[in-house]
Amino acid sequence: MFKTLQRKLTFTYSLCFFLTLAVLFIILFFVFKNFIYQSVVWQVDDIAHDQASEYAETQRLEGGVFKHSLQLFAFLSNNGKDVVYRGALPDDLRHNLTDKLRDGQNTGLMNIQLSRHEKPLLIYAMEPVREEGRQIGYIVVAKEVNRTHEQIELWFRTLFALGLGAAGLSIIIAHFLARRAVLPVKRNYERQRAFVADASHEMRTPLSVFSASLEFFEAEEKDRLSESSKETLRDLKDEVSEMNTLIDHLLALARADRDTLASKKSDFPLDQLTQSIIPYYSQKAGGAQKKFSFTLPAKTVFLNANPIEIRQLLTIFLDNALKYTQRHDLIALKIWADEKKQQFCFSVEDSGVGIPEEDQKHIFERFYRVEKGRARQSGGSGLGLSIAHEIIKAYNGRIDLRSVPDKGTTFQVMLPILKTFG
Ligand SMILES: Nc1ncnc2c1ncn2[C@@H]1O[C@H](COP(=O)(O)OP(=O)(O)OP(=O)(O)O)[C@@H](O)[C@H]1O
Ligand SMILES: [Mg+2]
Repeated sequence: MFKTLQRKLTFTYSLCFFLTLAVLFIILFFVFKNFIYQSVVWQVDDIAHDQASEYAETQRLEGGVFKHSLQLFAFLSNNGKDVVYRGALPDDLRHNLTDKLRDGQNTGLMNIQLSRHEKPLLIYAMEPVREEGRQIGYIVVAKEVNRTHEQIELWFRTLFALGLGAAGLSIIIAHFLARRAVLPVKRNYERQRAFVADASHEMRTPLSVFSASLEFFEAEEKDRLSESSKETLRDLKDEVSEMNTLIDHLLALARADRDTLASKKSDFPLDQLTQSIIPYYSQKAGGAQKKFSFTLPAKTVFLNANPIEIRQLLTIFLDNALKYTQRHDLIALKIWADEKKQQFCFSVEDSGVGIPEEDQKHIFERFYRVEKGRARQSGGSGLGLSIAHEIIKAYNGRIDLRSVPDKGTTFQVMLPILKTFG
């Protein structure tokens, strides 16, 4: 249980760390990339601006030192036909530039094919040249940014590698944090479980003393008790029996939580259980004017399990069948052995109140009761079926439920604990 919680926490924490880091790295990458490109754009734009005014005066393109770093430096006339240039200005590029001018994209990034092997990435700027107030063309300046682009790619790869490292680190940190977070919960849970187990255990002795005293009192004073006192005595005995069931359930749940169910197995004959269970429930059903029938395997059956747990399993279903039926209803216990699958099987069928469809998937949850009023009337804490479920799970068994409201319920259980048959 705690392992699953720890795993879920680790996953959530590492996902949070990782997403935060990923967002941070993505922002860093784009800020860096934009900053680098933008600084080149400003530089190229400045050159274009200076040259535009110079060209207007001299009608010449100056070849200053800084211009060597430029891939393209040209004057483009208004109609895009007359060109004065230094460096390479293929026709394709000229058309490209006039298209960009038409679209109003005076600065930007451009990829051109200069030769078969040369395809530089350029940042260009086009600045209008004015002569006597009239625009005669544009100064076109472009700078190759392949190195810059490579640098940005390197930056991206570095961030990606850092991201992977951070992901690994976030899993380690998340695992550590999850362990620390689960620790106090685990400690409290263990303490609470131990308390429930100890308290239930401690309550057993006074309850059996109480129960024995009631029996003694009934035997001694039976003839002298009035009808109402007898009724009170019966109620007291029922309450003690309820308390005993509750304590059994709490102890079984504590064992289930400690994963100690199905740990003390031994070989025992099925008769050992049926000989006490069947007369007890026949009598109880008879007393409540309900019909009880049973079918047992014809041959001797030996089981390999903890007899206390198998007895508890049977009584949980039989108790429910008795609780959730009315006068004249039927309760049928069927026990058989499936030799082929080495399974011990039983079913408990009743013609009682039934379980509504929407509750059927919940009744194996702890403390779940279909209808609180109904459960209070009949007594019960909603633990029986959850314990049955834990026991069946511990023995790798299966349970099937069929129930129709107001018609009845059948629980069928299959457990691979058959030792010998016949
Ligand atoms: N045979 C049945 N017929 C109708 N309803 C049933 C039957 N068995 C179980 N239920 C419903 O399922 C609920 C859960 O059963 P469960 O045995 O876990 O608890 P409980 O009987 O209320 O209390 P406890 O068994 O702890 O004394 C019951 O409250 C009841 O509403
Ligand atoms: Mg029950």
